[in-house]
Amino acid sequence: MYARIAGTGSHLPERVMTNKDLESLVDTSDQWIRERTGIAERRIAAEGETTCDLAEQAARKALDAAGLTGADIDLLIVGTTTPDLVFPSTACLLQHRLGAAECAAFDVNAACSGFIYAMSVADQFIRAGSASKVLVVGAETLTRMLDWNDRGTCVLFGDGAGAAVLVADSEPGILSTHIHANGGYGDLLCTEVGVSTGFKAEERGGVRVSMRGNEVFKVAVNTLGRIVDETLAANQLEKSDLDWLIPHQANLRIIKATAKKLNMSMDQVIVTVDKHGNTSAASVPLALDEAIRSGRVKRGEKLLLEAFGGGFTWGAALVVY
Ligand code: COA
Repeated sequence: MYARIAGTGSHLPERVMTNKDLESLVDTSDQWIRERTGIAERRIAAEGETTCDLAEQAARKALDAAGLTGADIDLLIVGTTTPDLVFPSTACLLQHRLGAAECAAFDVNAACSGFIYAMSVADQFIRAGSASKVLVVGAETLTRMLDWNDRGTCVLFGDGAGAAVLVADSEPGILSTHIHANGGYGDLLCTEVGVSTGFKAEERGGVRVSMRGNEVFKVAVNTLGRIVDETLAANQLEKSDLDWLIPHQANLRIIKATAKKLNMSMDQVIVTVDKHGNTSAASVPLALDEAIRSGRVKRGEKLLLEAFGGGFTWGAALVVY
């Protein structure tokens, strides 16, 4: 049994924040942000709009595209590092809203790799015969925990959600998934406080993303190079067998480095970082949905999905769409 992508969906908050808008908040410029990251604008969740709200919209579109309803789903996984609450999980909140009976529902926190991790878990459940219709979501409101005085981070991130419905099928779908972590790099990209850190978050300025961007950049480029090699080797495929690269959208320079490593032209790479910024776990499914709905990615084509994020975590999925 394979896990086949039956439908995808995505959703973005209405409010657009441009690089020009950021110029009035921190010492930065539209030119610097575009040149160093490729980002032109990002979306910001409205006050009161939560990760689950974004996830719900994306999930409903994915279910529609698959011709299914919430009641058909037998497993629901949400990749997020910005859940509405500590508990219930965002997956449980979403399950109730979608009327998804009493299926198992849980969140996966693998930061920006959350969707690939969730997809990998879903794939194992389907291969094992333990689930046959799985809703996998990547949803974030990461801008809620940005320090709007820190120009090294606040210009990079945005909010959004993407979803995919995976169904069991005898025809090839996901060929393989590969996920890894190295907690030794934890402090390069993290929040310095959380729930159990022993001091109050507000005494440290709240829960805020802290990053040593330059160091993250170097490890990301190197690690993504290795994971794409691992994924191709596991499937005995050549670089030239790939039709599309659907990468995590953190920085256009990182995306270009991975494309170069794969000898792929940028025409074969889905890029949304210009409009979305880094939406963490939402970035890969947002890009996937945009690629499918725009008609660029077609049934039968081979897609390489990859992501890298805080932890560090990273992963890839090779998919016949
Ligand atoms: N506007 C203007 N200048 C800025 C800036 C901003 N928004 N942010 C940083 N700078 C400055 C720095 O202060 C530094 O100034 P200095 O030379 O006077 O000290 C200079 O730009 C270069 O900083 P550096 O951090 O070396 O830049 P960079 O080329 O590495 O780009 C990032 C910074 C954050 C864009 C880049 O490192 C990056 O994208 N890293 C990976 C981040 C990532 O992907 N994180 C998520 C992983 S999922």
